[in-house]
Amino acid sequence: MKTETTIHGLAASLNPARHAKKLIGFVPTMGNLHEGHLNLVREAKKICDLVVVSIFVNPTQFGPNEDFDNYPRTLDQDSHLLADVGCDIVFAPAVEQMFAKEPRKTNIQVTEITQGLCGHARPGHFDGVALIVTKLFNIVQPNYAFFGQKDFQQLVIVQQLVRDLNMPLEVIGVPTTRAEDGLALSSRNGYLTVEERALAPQIYASLNHAKVFLEQGEALKDILEKMKNDLTTSGFEIDYVEARTPELETVLHFDQDIVLFVAARLGKTRLIDNLRVNVPT
Ligand code: PAF
Repeated sequence: MKTETTIHGLAASLNPARHAKKLIGFVPTMGNLHEGHLNLVREAKKICDLVVVSIFVNPTQFGPNEDFDNYPRTLDQDSHLLADVGCDIVFAPAVEQMFAKEPRKTNIQVTEITQGLCGHARPGHFDGVALIVTKLFNIVQPNYAFFGQKDFQQLVIVQQLVRDLNMPLEVIGVPTTRAEDGLALSSRNGYLTVEERALAPQIYASLNHAKVFLEQGEALKDILEKMKNDLTTSGFEIDYVEARTPELETVLHFDQDIVLFVAARLGKTRLIDNLRVNVPT
């Protein structure tokens, strides 16, 4: 496995594969890798000849009071994990490599679907994601890019970006990897105290209860209200509990195929999760 830290170096490493028309898979990450990331690489390996993983903590997607400075940077450990799952190239640029000194005059903004859910609590977050993903796609020029369904809103936004700008790649959503107790794996789970970690699986449990209630025909509005009450009683501070279509349009009533979304805080840690409920008629 090669590690490249410059855009030039990466291009030189990728050129032979590109000329040989090899299929290039790309997994963008911010590092501090866990099984969820490694599963993205495993999926990429199934259909691509060569897999590039980027490790870059992107400053433009963090708000002023968020955890950019404290975000765990664990490149050595990440590199070992990536070598073990057969990653071919790690791209780990410094901030100066990705963002030149002179002020940037270009922004990338996906509208509407960036506004609610995480876009509400994290204004500007998805502009930062759209910008870095566009830059990384231009640098890596992959045939396929792999994103986790845990960040469902991000996945749909990136798919929209790729369609709207005719980017020549396919974005593949990979199912969420969970701990045995159901907690969706996330780099931020490491911030949880022992007590908070014990409570955290209640988010996924509550999504599953909601699914059962929906399948039994209970009203969506009542179910969302109950989820909020139950999670609040357990000690979560709710950011949102919402239902959307898989394209992120608002839904007021259950309509065969929806996604339930939860974002909630336990102490300082913000957790998100979602569950698709698809009841064929
Ligand atoms: O999901 C993430 O880790 C980040 O938002 C991404 C896609 C790597 C962009 O920085």
